Amino acid sequence: MAKLAVIGAGYVGLTSAACLAHLGHDVRCTDVDAKRVERLSAGENPIVEEGLTELVREGLTSGRLSFTTDNVGAVGGASFTFLCVPTPQGGDGRADMSYIEGSAHEIGPHLPFESVVVNKSTVPVGSTKVVENALRRSDVAVVSNPEFLREGSAVHDFLNPDRIVIGADDEATAIKVAALFLHISAPLVVTDPASAETIKYASNAFLATKVSFINAVAALCEAVGADIRQVVVGMGSDRRIGSDFLRPGPGWGGSCFPKDTTALVRIAEDAGYDFSLLKGVIAVNEEQYERVAAKAVRLAGGSLEGVTVALWGLTFKARTDDLRSSPSLEVARRLRRAGAKVQAYDPTVSGQIDGLEVRHDPYSACEGARVLVIGTEWDAFRWLDFDKVGELMANKAVVDGRNLLEPATLRRAGFVYEGIGLT
Ligand SMILES: NC(=O)c1ccc[n+]([C@@H]2O[C@H](COP(=O)([O-])OP(=O)(O)OC[C@H]3O[C@@H](n4cnc5c(N)ncnc54)[C@H](O)[C@@H]3O)[C@@H](O)[C@H]2O)c1
Repeated sequence: MAKLAVIGAGYVGLTSAACLAHLGHDVRCTDVDAKRVERLSAGENPIVEEGLTELVREGLTSGRLSFTTDNVGAVGGASFTFLCVPTPQGGDGRADMSYIEGSAHEIGPHLPFESVVVNKSTVPVGSTKVVENALRRSDVAVVSNPEFLREGSAVHDFLNPDRIVIGADDEATAIKVAALFLHISAPLVVTDPASAETIKYASNAFLATKVSFINAVAALCEAVGADIRQVVVGMGSDRRIGSDFLRPGPGWGGSCFPKDTTALVRIAEDAGYDFSLLKGVIAVNEEQYERVAAKAVRLAGGSLEGVTVALWGLTFKARTDDLRSSPSLEVARRLRRAGAKVQAYDPTVSGQIDGLEVRHDPYSACEGARVLVIGTEWDAFRWLDFDKVGELMANKAVVDGRNLLEPATLRRAGFVYEGIGLT
């Protein structure tokens, strides 16, 4: 078992640190956010992620996991240092590498002789070299180990991945990194660093393409009178296609797809390739936010000026508290621009968000609303009392942005119901 440092205690860093400690390693996890470190050291988990609190506490109790704000101190005795810092979208659409470069620059002089830096952040092709330059340590190897976990099932995905990708310049280093994951049963894909970095971006871009594709087919279904639910069953049962990510909705979002697709377009541009397919995927996604907002306008009678709209679900998907680039918030922005007052509810969100009025329960959000929009697929929304919802609303109309509810049931209860790609 190895001594590890994990820089960044966010969705990826914290999950990685807790899981690596669970696998038996000795892990020091750092973050610049002192409050976060304090909470984590007390066994409090700042993010909603199934099973993570238990693993953090297990790590603290066993003594294999600890938290600190001291990057330099943490890497001191570590044979492997994982970089899990943000790579947000920069002003020009390219990934902002300042967190990566800044942390590499800081830890460089303090890394043990011949240790390994493992980059888990999603970074443009060629970033392994950028990290090497920032470290200024010829004895330290830099390896790319992209992370594929999904928020909402991060712990499960880390411990049961479809594959582990390791991009290294030499095989011996790749084997050393692979040994850290010995107790995880998954195919190992060993590549050069540039290919590993490309695998991560290409995977996210492909998944975004699938979602945009099915949203475009859903628009077609509405135009020709077909039912997207039946189309998805028919398409998805073809094993060459598969049903994963063939779920129509309000568009894709979250902390990764928007920034990673845009970054990949820029990476291609910089390399002289016009990735027009991916540009189309992004454009279809923007249209989808508009399409959902337009449905609400239609159901409100043609205008949202001064109209109250209820919005259920704010997070970018269910089972997370992450609001970053949430499609639901994109739709809300468009509703507000059209003059609506938006009363929102989400099981994991409270306080002022983006000028919305966030209510503490789903019924209260419906008071006086002319339309109810469903923005996130929280399962609990299915089981609410729709007679009560109807009584609270000024007008019984639902835009089901996730096709979560049963249209026939809603229509029987007197609602005008519109989903995505349904007739
Ligand atoms: N969130 C996901 O689902 C996911 C999945 C796969 C890959 N990724 C990639 O992983 C990387 C991290 O994403 P995330 O969602 O975990 O981000 P995050 O914002 O949740 O966490 C990053 C953490 O790093 C901390 N940090 C910033 N600079 C630091 C420094 N110099 N030293 C120590 N800590 C520092 C921040 O305070 C923050 O807590 C990104 O490149 C992202 O694209 C994310």
